[in-house]
Amino acid sequence: MTGNVRSMLVLALLAAPAHAKSPPALRGTHGMVASDNAIASQVGARILADGGDAADAAVATALVLGVVQPFASGIGGGGFAVVWRTDEKKGYALDFREVAPAGASKDMYLDAAGEVIPGASTRGPRAAGVPGEVAGLWALHQAHGRLPWAKVVEPALRLARDGFPAPALLAERARDKQAELAERPALAAVFLPRGEPIAEGATVKRPALAATLAAVAKGGAEAFYRGPVAKKLAAAIKADGGLITADDLAGYATKVRPVVETTWRGQRILSMPPPSSGGAVLIEVLRVLEGDDLDAMGHNSSAYIHRLAEALKHAFADRARVMGDPDFTPVPVDQLIGDAARDRVREAFDPAHTLARDAYGAPNGLPADGGTSHFSVIDRWGNAVALTTTVNTSFGSMYVAGATGVLMNDQMDDFVSKPGVPNAYGLVGRAANAIAPGKRPLSSMTPTIVLKDDKVVLVVGGSGGPTIITGTLQVLLNILAFDMDPLAAVQAPRIHHQWVPEVLLLESEIPMDVVDALKARGHQVKVVDRFNAVQAIEVDGAVMRGASDPSKLGAPAAAP
Ligand code: GLY
Repeated sequence: MTGNVRSMLVLALLAAPAHAKSPPALRGTHGMVASDNAIASQVGARILADGGDAADAAVATALVLGVVQPFASGIGGGGFAVVWRTDEKKGYALDFREVAPAGASKDMYLDAAGEVIPGASTRGPRAAGVPGEVAGLWALHQAHGRLPWAKVVEPALRLARDGFPAPALLAERARDKQAELAERPALAAVFLPRGEPIAEGATVKRPALAATLAAVAKGGAEAFYRGPVAKKLAAAIKADGGLITADDLAGYATKVRPVVETTWRGQRILSMPPPSSGGAVLIEVLRVLEGDDLDAMGHNSSAYIHRLAEALKHAFADRARVMGDPDFTPVPVDQLIGDAARDRVREAFDPAHTLARDAYGAPNGLPADGGTSHFSVIDRWGNAVALTTTVNTSFGSMYVAGATGVLMNDQMDDFVSKPGVPNAYGLVGRAANAIAPGKRPLSSMTPTIVLKDDKVVLVVGGSGGPTIITGTLQVLLNILAFDMDPLAAVQAPRIHHQWVPEVLLLESEIPMDVVDALKARGHQVKVVDRFNAVQAIEVDGAVMRGASDPSKLGAPAAAP
């Protein structure tokens, strides 16, 4: 990053503890990026300031995130974007999710006795799906880019080649995963210099990845999927016992899908359809809450949290029952977000008590924010991108594909290895999400855009496994139903329930009398620290207000 970039962009926040009281969200009028890393947000805002479209800024931000916070995203992963184009008054979903390689099979993570082999779907080259990140960013740029591709790739390339100061979160994740990183020389060389976790602020260089990014800057997606990078990736993965071949890479295709959508209190909510469960679960719950006087219940009162948790339990049970890749299995989204589902959930509600597990559906440790990153972008013309990108768990599969420097995802763990057996995020599922060649694993990522009269009023989404859905939902409700400033909305304590396991997670700042009142309704309660991170930009006329979740030490940036 040049001194110029640093000096001309506005930094919103210094790192602050979750939920700390703070000034209002960052304000801007010429475009904004809210990501979970300050450097990435600043790079995106610089691209906007240079005349870039929201899509240009999204590409640059995503690539920088993958360099500076590789535990949470990168070109070895994939993601989703919900896009709003202001001139065409058109929104769509871009799916660049990883797919299972042709050599994958339903029982590939089971032993001879039919039991799940611990770690098989989360570690090493066999845990990786065919990455979609470069194809997705290329597609976004091809459709809407105003600046040259090489220019939007350049900041990530420069940071990887010349070095960057280790963000505090990278230092923390390196400490957290020290033992596992130490067993992998390609990772240890970068993140455990002299055998010790990289210190915050120490210079990190990623020369192998820089060479790959240089090839991508020159040759675009073709270089990654069919050109020199593809050849190196396929050779390294084959040598290391993985399944992804040159044909798998050459065959990878992004998909443009219609958004899943509802009108809620006069505003249009556009979110991510299957193969993410995020949009459908979000909208199923919003519809259940639509008729309620949430203000009268009170934000984070026991009555409100109980109502929310009960709706979430139904929606997550529906997720486990029917959701998977819509190109392989019919997913009845209209039924999940329709009037019948809303009425069924409302009728089942008991204000005094939670229900037995099977009342929500026939049958998911609990997640920490793992290997995912969300950012929100709006440009001066009103175009918006909500983009969530992932390598799945922290540092993905922990497998670096040879000299490419590409840290591969472990997205195969988002499939159901065996019905009823929870994945790394405690989620269960059925045949709809079984492994099959070319299939996309079910996701929880929930990039979301809210419109009023065809103008963007909110760009929001988060990271944190299944808690992405609940985090995004609560921040959306905090802004739209409780009229909070985006930073207050992002900082307010959150809850999570995913039906199975039968545990209601409550952040520790929820008052004890509320905790007790929820226990009295039969909830098994666990008080925890923050488990997800949400980035939001609210737009009100010409004014943009953005917030990055302080818990992940991110910060938004505004184009000057
Ligand atoms: N890998 C996290 C998700 O897609 O939900």
